[in-house]
Amino acid sequence: MTRAFAITADAIATERARVNDDVHAINIANVISLDELTLPDVGPRDVKFRTLAVSAEHNLTHAATADTVNIADLRGGKIYPGNSAVGEVTEVGGEVTKFKVGDIVVTHCNGEPDEYGYPLRIWAYDQPDSIGWYAEECVVGDWQLVQAPLNCGLNLWEIAALPLRAPTAYHMWRRAEGILRVKIPDEKLSTMNVLAFGGGVSELFLMLAKHRGHNAFFCSGSPERRAALEKQGIIGIDQKAYNRFATRDDMKGFGREVKKLTGGTGMHVVCDLLRGPCFDAGIMAAARMGVNVSAGWQLGTHVTYNSAGASAKQITLDHTHYETPTGIEAATGLYGSVFKPTIHHEIYAFEDLPRAVVEMDQAVQTGIPIVRVAQDMPASVKSLIP
Ligand SMILES: NC(=O)c1ccc[n+]([C@@H]2O[C@H](COP(=O)([O-])OP(=O)(O)OC[C@H]3O[C@@H](n4cnc5c(N)ncnc54)[C@H](OP(=O)(O)O)[C@@H]3O)[C@@H](O)[C@H]2O)c1
Repeated sequence: MTRAFAITADAIATERARVNDDVHAINIANVISLDELTLPDVGPRDVKFRTLAVSAEHNLTHAATADTVNIADLRGGKIYPGNSAVGEVTEVGGEVTKFKVGDIVVTHCNGEPDEYGYPLRIWAYDQPDSIGWYAEECVVGDWQLVQAPLNCGLNLWEIAALPLRAPTAYHMWRRAEGILRVKIPDEKLSTMNVLAFGGGVSELFLMLAKHRGHNAFFCSGSPERRAALEKQGIIGIDQKAYNRFATRDDMKGFGREVKKLTGGTGMHVVCDLLRGPCFDAGIMAAARMGVNVSAGWQLGTHVTYNSAGASAKQITLDHTHYETPTGIEAATGLYGSVFKPTIHHEIYAFEDLPRAVVEMDQAVQTGIPIVRVAQDMPASVKSLIP
């Protein structure tokens, strides 16, 4: 038996009844609870690991509020969430060659690659029978793990921030860059203007853009997170100065700042994981030939835009989901050299994971939220704990 967090359809129904179905009033901490779980046997291609640390991820808020789909209900009434973890291998199946006992590994959440490697489903979310990693111990297929780059210069909490967010950012970047390059070759435009709206994935996206020599702009409501990125040469735009785009005047003010910052050109690439009012702001900020890329819908799943206007400006919208296993390996290779995540100042205890998710949802954290799961850490990572 291992302790693991679970979300049940019953808990969602009870909480939704309590708040008269007002999704915004749901207390996520009432829905995510500690449970006990019997792990499956370790098969020939399986790996068992002891979880050291995890990061809180937004798909938990979607699962706990059932704002997109009621995934717990669709999965038979209960899910075990969690698809971003660092762990220590404790057992390997007879046919596993890539990992051995004692290795430190990171997980990825591509639940079932299609013929090109893209996920048909996400692990611990809509992949049937998938058991997530907000648990003290886990059993997974060897193809779901990557060796943790312990010498990359990041500490353990920073490494734990990246397994889900870095591949997402990497994938969005290579898609957006590729699409823009179909339209404007390097010899016509070598330095792009790249904008992203607040959040951990966006921060990583901008670090990659900056690393590749482009101008990067971070539009966020958090002064701490903007300051952290400014240290890496990424220019901050205060989203709250424009009231998170509540009115037309706010939007116009934001448009003026974008024009000023880019010498009138606008943004060649916009990363918008939030949608809602950020979508309109991102479309307005776009330069001619711009690319708007997304893998999220935190503030809304529906968008509307003026197709004639987008055609005249030759704007491309691209919807992505998550990386291929090969892309995940490539993204992991950029830990520390490109990806230097900002971490929330509190490292949460395992039992406090629901609070970490609530505070993430309230956008009050100063960086990516990390939960320490193991108390006794293996010798190989002790020097990586700040
Ligand atoms: N498809 C995938 O594989 C994948 C992977 C990871 C994430 N995602 C999705 O991407 C989205 C962002 O994820 P993340 O991990 O980057 O999130 P995160 O680190 O938790 O950041 C979310 C950010 O949203 C901003 N925000 C919150 N409420 C807002 C509001 N009312 N108006 C405007 N901005 C608000 C906040 O930024 P500021 O306060 O700094 O402005 C906050 O930092 C989520 O929807 C998530 O599900 C998708």
